[in-house]
Amino acid sequence: MPHLDPYFKQVDGLQETFIQRLREAVAIPSISSEDERRPDVVKMGHWLADQIKALGGEVELRELGKQPGHEHLNLPPCILGRYGNDPNKKSILVYGHYDVQPAQKSDGWATDPFTLTIDDKGRMFGRGSTDDKGPVLGWLNAIEAHQKAGVDFPVNLIMCFEGMEENGSEGLDELIAEEAKKFFKDADVVCISDNYWLGTEKPCLTYGVRGCNYYSVEVSGPGQDLHSGVYGGMTHEPMTDLIRIMNSFVDPDGKILIKGIDDLVAPLTEQEAALYPPIAFTMQDLHQSLGSEVSIHDTKEEALKHKMRYPSLSLHGIEGAFYTPGAKTVIPAKVIGKFSIRTVPNMEIDPVTKLVEEHVNQEWAKLGSKNKMKFNVVHCGKWWVEDPNHPNYTAAAKAVERVFGVKPDMTREGGSIPVTLTFQEQLGKNVLLLPMGSSTDAAHSINEKLDKMNYIEGTKLLGAYLHYVAGELK
Ligand code: BES
Ligand code: ZN
Repeated sequence: MPHLDPYFKQVDGLQETFIQRLREAVAIPSISSEDERRPDVVKMGHWLADQIKALGGEVELRELGKQPGHEHLNLPPCILGRYGNDPNKKSILVYGHYDVQPAQKSDGWATDPFTLTIDDKGRMFGRGSTDDKGPVLGWLNAIEAHQKAGVDFPVNLIMCFEGMEENGSEGLDELIAEEAKKFFKDADVVCISDNYWLGTEKPCLTYGVRGCNYYSVEVSGPGQDLHSGVYGGMTHEPMTDLIRIMNSFVDPDGKILIKGIDDLVAPLTEQEAALYPPIAFTMQDLHQSLGSEVSIHDTKEEALKHKMRYPSLSLHGIEGAFYTPGAKTVIPAKVIGKFSIRTVPNMEIDPVTKLVEEHVNQEWAKLGSKNKMKFNVVHCGKWWVEDPNHPNYTAAAKAVERVFGVKPDMTREGGSIPVTLTFQEQLGKNVLLLPMGSSTDAAHSINEKLDKMNYIEGTKLLGAYLHYVAGELK
């Protein structure tokens, strides 16, 4: 790989430019789940499109129509970009998302979430720094560094950047199906940088993600919120009913209590069990990223299996509950409990939903309440597992060795990126997850960050991968 050194040198030289690019991106609060932030999500899409154009790429902003269930809102555009049109080169499709999770300083952030703030350890704090603005910009940084180094870009880069990933990727499956034989038709393989290393030292390649079935249970009864002194003891209370239902899903050790769910999980083979011991991960890594020692399992193997290989059920919140400080003596009239199940092979979406709905109905019947209960499916995305014995992975492993001097761990993710499966199915091409950030980045949490080292070396990695994959696919 003769061309990599000048490229790497250029990446080092352009550090400040790249950090400035991330600073501008973080400053746009592109929160896809908050209706009033939609203009910022759209602004972010346009900003990104302009960046690609400024680097000489071609861009289309694809409108995806209205948001289902929120018909007053347009979905943010999907950015379809292309850099290079050489029929003699391989074409690599990269995907990322430019929307972010909500964040407010008052959630407990040490700094303003939308002002990139760098500390003396090189930690760059800001919402979206690691998930997923840093990695998306990594691809653009790679283009710029090639140009300035005068190194030929080794592939045609097809870009698909969406603005609704944190909100169920609405509208994207349809777009991918429609463009599979058009905009994406030349793609030889797919690469997504939207997950994290298992620890803080060693890069990984990821060949699977869990699915996510997201549900809600709505309980209502009284015509309005009531005074508990006046009506307590005289009425069925929605919150009391809902808490009973929510309490029936999972035990404190994470065991899912919904009958039949475990039977859907593919049994762990001996061959699979052998994959976990070699992974570079310690309970200390886990405790560091948890910020405490509250892990359920005692060994790294068990912990990893429960992240990568088994389902989990989490309770997320209750809308309508009185959750602000103080002691209001209210009986909320309507509450909506939200929960999700992370799914693994062979849990199909519909059979899982059927079991959950049956369970909720049974638990509801036990209560004998006169309130009304409604079970809702909010969004569902299936798990994905890829063949890691593919040149796409061989190339990425070589790139990791070149940039970091180590062989990557092979991992599956506990989180979900529903579009991985859509690309695999619609394009019929190998999909690789190539993360940039580390386990301590706190994606979705307060004080999300990306280390300067991960951003800069990660940019080198993405560029190096393109060179190696061009070679491996020949
Ligand atoms: N970047 C994450 C995916 C991810 C999460 C990878 C955790 C590795 C570990 C992505 O932005 C995300 O959070 N996805 C959602 C998808 C959901 C809304 C279907 C998730 O996993 O909660
Ligand atoms: Zn993400």
